[in-house]
Amino acid sequence: MPIDNKIAEKARKLREKLLDADYKYYVLARPDIDDYTYDMMMKELKELETQYSELKTPDSPTQRVGGQASNEFPTVTHEVPMLSLANSYDENDLFEFDKRIKNLLKGENYKYVSELKFDGIAVSLIYRNGLFVQGATRGDGITGDDITNNLKTIRSIPLRLEKKIDIEVRGEVFFMLKDFIKINEQQEKEGKPRYANPRNTAAGTLKLKDSREVAQRKLNMFCYSLRYLNENEQQKLSLHYENMQILKELKFPVNSYTKVFTSINDVKSYCDEIEKMRDELPYEIDGVVVKIDSLKQQEKIGSIARNPRWAIACKFKAKQAITKLKAISLQVGRIGTITPVALLEPVFLAGSTISRATLHNYDEIQRKDIRVGDYVKIEKGGDVIPKIVEVVLEQRAKELKLFTMPDNCPVCRQPIYRPEGEVNFYCTNLQCPAQVQGRIQHFVGRYAMDIEGLGYQIIDKFIQLGYLKDFTDIYELFKHEKKLKLLERFGEKSIDNILKSVEKSKQKPFDKVLYAIGIRHVGDRTAKLLAKSFKNIDNLIKSSKDNIEKVHEIGPEIAESIYNFFHNRANLKIIEKLKNAGLKLETEFAGKTSNKFEGLTFVLTGTLAKYKREEAREIIESLGGKTSSSVSKKTNYLLAGSEAGSKLDKAKSLGVKIIDEAEFEKMIS
Ligand code: IVH
Repeated sequence: MPIDNKIAEKARKLREKLLDADYKYYVLARPDIDDYTYDMMMKELKELETQYSELKTPDSPTQRVGGQASNEFPTVTHEVPMLSLANSYDENDLFEFDKRIKNLLKGENYKYVSELKFDGIAVSLIYRNGLFVQGATRGDGITGDDITNNLKTIRSIPLRLEKKIDIEVRGEVFFMLKDFIKINEQQEKEGKPRYANPRNTAAGTLKLKDSREVAQRKLNMFCYSLRYLNENEQQKLSLHYENMQILKELKFPVNSYTKVFTSINDVKSYCDEIEKMRDELPYEIDGVVVKIDSLKQQEKIGSIARNPRWAIACKFKAKQAITKLKAISLQVGRIGTITPVALLEPVFLAGSTISRATLHNYDEIQRKDIRVGDYVKIEKGGDVIPKIVEVVLEQRAKELKLFTMPDNCPVCRQPIYRPEGEVNFYCTNLQCPAQVQGRIQHFVGRYAMDIEGLGYQIIDKFIQLGYLKDFTDIYELFKHEKKLKLLERFGEKSIDNILKSVEKSKQKPFDKVLYAIGIRHVGDRTAKLLAKSFKNIDNLIKSSKDNIEKVHEIGPEIAESIYNFFHNRANLKIIEKLKNAGLKLETEFAGKTSNKFEGLTFVLTGTLAKYKREEAREIIESLGGKTSSSVSKKTNYLLAGSEAGSKLDKAKSLGVKIIDEAEFEKMIS
């Protein structure tokens, strides 16, 4: 039915009024209409949208109540990685940080912006043409999950901006304490278990598959960073504090405790003040974030690995509790490290019940004179595993036995040893079931080969039954398909799913394989750097220690560990097996490098089926081409995937050649 102008206008007005009411209630905390009026307007708008589906716009407040459940969240690549902050726990760290900044800026004047460190979940919001088009989790910092529909339910997040700009806004999603308490009251009413703390509940809520459920819970957000997607616009920004004011004007929720300081002493006083009033805030914070105000200076100072050097998180002192140490158990990790773990009388601390705490190593137990049967003071900071601070000696009733390390591994009974100068004891038996288990678990992990269905229990069972001796055996599991399907408590379907997931994992890129094989000190980021620099496994195997160290961000200790790994016969055998299984041991398109795209500039938009944006960009660059984040007259090609946004319109208006994925593949083949 054609819509009469008056009706369209009515819907537009309702949308505007409702979004404005959201802003006044959730951002300004100054509602100007009552709940009933709000509900009536929402009802009217919903009815209009049902009657005339053309009226349903992506920025309609009706989107906030959630839609269809989705099966999985597509992965998105962050155009700029989402970094994390280095932590400081005492004032010395803060003054050291200031000294470093002073040195790095060589006499330049600088200012600090101090903000609250919200204890929630980091997210990225993308706006194109002023419209909220994509929201994602931080994930591993490089790629995250697309949770747009869940984020749309957060009423303090604007769905449309007053300016038609392309920006990325980052911030923290969290629960107000009162809303978290309500959720737990509801859980209790329904006879369900209570949630441990607001932060984990926020994380869980953002990952709910049904956005209607997310809408039922009142998540909140504070924004702490702004970036223009267009390079030229971004260049016009100069100060972090000003960016926060821009965000405020754009009606984003920005925290009002943010302050600018010129002296580190003032920053310190701010931290102390905030720590004192921490418990009065209606939401949880776990510290203060201190950032260099000037964006130019931030760039100059740069980052190391995943931490910007221009910012620091001053964490508050952790909350403490006293409880009894019932036993000390020894855990064997994937590289054989034996870690003592304290088993405690359960105690409630900072939102959750604690029954285990890390003891780090034997030295620490000796230094703190920790004995089984003692009362110990434990503490927990944020998401850190609880630790034992000290023994409450006054409560040691009688003389307790000293704790000593055994001579043998608690799992495989082989002798353990402690290398010169190291604090850890190791089980040296590479076949130790605990090590095998740990290595396999790491290999199948989400950020490694991402093989679904192989959880702790199942891996354990397969090891016991002799199907898995190391992770290369995962690719032989198909040979035992019939027998596996006969196992008790394993359905045919679950085995089919595991085998399918194993097969799928063979498509994982080289850097994931490098991470998965578990070289000591090689995390996912280092693995990416190695894959990019060495292109294939043979180059890496042949490489000297010096050459490895030449890779930016790789230090001598990491280089040594990588070099040693590839000079061990057993490891080379493992690599050979993985090669035979068909895993990717070279960077895609390595070797095909040419100058085919020299002088050509590509812009990418929308979602591609086969490539992540980052991958497409790498391919273009490996062929000598350039990529840019915005379309201009200089753009030669716009590579448009599905759901391409405003870039597509702009390319059309400028007459830029638009290609789809199939054409792109032809060009690169
Ligand atoms: S700035 C590189 N500002 O803390 C800059 N982060 O480890 C990183 N966080 O992942 C972000 N409040 O989830 C920034 N005011 C604030 C923050 C904040 C909380 C979280 C964020 C980040 C983590 C840093």
